[in-house]
Amino acid sequence: MTTKLWNTDQGYDAALRAFDSSAAKLGLDIVDLYLIHWPTPARDLYLETWRAFEKLLADGRVRAIGVSNFQPEHLQRLLGESGIVPAVNQVELHPALVQQRVRDFDAAHGIATEAWSPLAKGSVLHEQALTEIAARHGKTPAQIVLRWHIQLGNTVIPKSVTPERIRQNIDVFDFELTGAEVEAITSLDRGLRTGPDPDTLN
Ligand SMILES: NC(=O)c1ccc[n+]([C@@H]2O[C@H](COP(=O)([O-])OP(=O)(O)OC[C@H]3O[C@@H](n4cnc5c(N)ncnc54)[C@H](OP(=O)(O)O)[C@@H]3O)[C@@H](O)[C@H]2O)c1
Repeated sequence: MTTKLWNTDQGYDAALRAFDSSAAKLGLDIVDLYLIHWPTPARDLYLETWRAFEKLLADGRVRAIGVSNFQPEHLQRLLGESGIVPAVNQVELHPALVQQRVRDFDAAHGIATEAWSPLAKGSVLHEQALTEIAARHGKTPAQIVLRWHIQLGNTVIPKSVTPERIRQNIDVFDFELTGAEVEAITSLDRGLRTGPDPDTLN
């Protein structure tokens, strides 16, 4: 069970209050993973916010703490100020936004990369490279994208309200992409953000 701290609740006291409110809404005493939703760098509150997260961890209110939408520069600053490495960095990541720099930084520091909008909200599923690979494996393009994420080592959180697609999205553990197929999907990268840029969202 993961929840995130919204931007307007950053700051030490505000973050502690927001956690209490989220936990109460969820009906939970303990949350598995709590994330800072965006760094909002111009507001310069994420270090102070992280101190509140460290307290929640020390007090046993959360099992793990992490961040979302943090660029390597934001993570570097956090690591310089804290002994606790974020367990997770949840970022926009899909075949049209491969995020090599972020994934390399996360991997070098033992931070799990979690992909949000892992299907690019469905917008990449018509790509010819994907439909061809899908036909070869008898899978759908969405399953091919999810399998690509898993083989890259990403944690992946696709969203669907459609029961058949939810079933499809978890049925990705009985086949393997070749190295060349992984490469072909990675080469669809065009730096496409479907959401905000973390450097400028404040
Ligand atoms: N940390 C952040 O800042 C942040 C920002 C945005 C999103 N997120 C998180 O990321 C997760 C998913 O993101 P998302 O919903 O934006 O994008 P997504 O999972 O990439 O795409 C969801 C879209 O793809 C469709 N879809 C799902 N499975 C499919 C399949 N097997 N075949 C064809 N289409 C399929 C869904 O349609 P239907 O639902 O109609 O089936 C929906 O339109 C959510 O948990 C969200 O909270 C985090």
